[in-house]
Amino acid sequence: MANAIELKHVTKEYDVGEERVKALNDVSLKIGEGEFVAVVGASGSGKSTLLHIMGALDKPTRGSVKINGKSADLMSSDELAELRAGTVGFVFQFFNLIPRLTALENVSVPAIFSRKSGDARKLLEDIGLVHRAWHMPSQLSGGERQRVAIARAMINDPKIILADEPTGNLDSVTGKNVMDIFKSLNEKGKTIVLITHDRAVAKAARRIVTIKDGMLK
Ligand SMILES: Nc1ncnc2c1ncn2[C@@H]1O[C@H](COP(=O)(O)OP(=O)(O)O)[C@@H](O)[C@H]1O
Ligand SMILES: [Mg+2]
Repeated sequence: MANAIELKHVTKEYDVGEERVKALNDVSLKIGEGEFVAVVGASGSGKSTLLHIMGALDKPTRGSVKINGKSADLMSSDELAELRAGTVGFVFQFFNLIPRLTALENVSVPAIFSRKSGDARKLLEDIGLVHRAWHMPSQLSGGERQRVAIARAMINDPKIILADEPTGNLDSVTGKNVMDIFKSLNEKGKTIVLITHDRAVAKAARRIVTIKDGMLK
């Protein structure tokens, strides 16, 4: 099985004034194509930092990162942006929809930057929200907003979906619906990495990795 993501000895340090915070400490992790992995850990354990590095949103201080078989280590920020746009879809806890755009327009946004022509309407259909296409985010429930965000993550047909606490702002029933969407995307072949502090949510994944103080357990 080829690897979707491969981290080798990744350390990430942040300088905060005089202090140095070690958010990740020598993390090595392989995620195979088609896997559904949950990374579980307490607040501050380094989960978001790990996700940002797995998606080439941020660079490690030390160590190497391969995404979809390509080494991200020496890429320029333009090259990283291109790798992300073509390979990775992101889903966040607070949805990060653009308030002045409709649901349909929000789903289309990443396609503008990648100059691809994803079918936003079809993606809304797939998640049962085509009847909300012309609604603004403020006119949608939390669960609906997160489904729109998942459709947006899919617009460039990425191989990998990285989700950071995607159910953190949802009630448990709505959260379960969102997890079911991830499960079905995984069944269609998408590699999914889901980050959560909630062990119950992590159970949807087929493999669970635990992180503590920036180290995998
Ligand atoms: N941009 C940043 N600058 C400084 N410190 C940061 C930054 N991002 C995260 N940290 C620190 O790194 C550690 C891990 O943070 P994070 O990856 O956000 O953890 P989690 O997502 O598990 O809550 C924390 O101690 C946090 O305060
Ligand atoms: Mg976080």
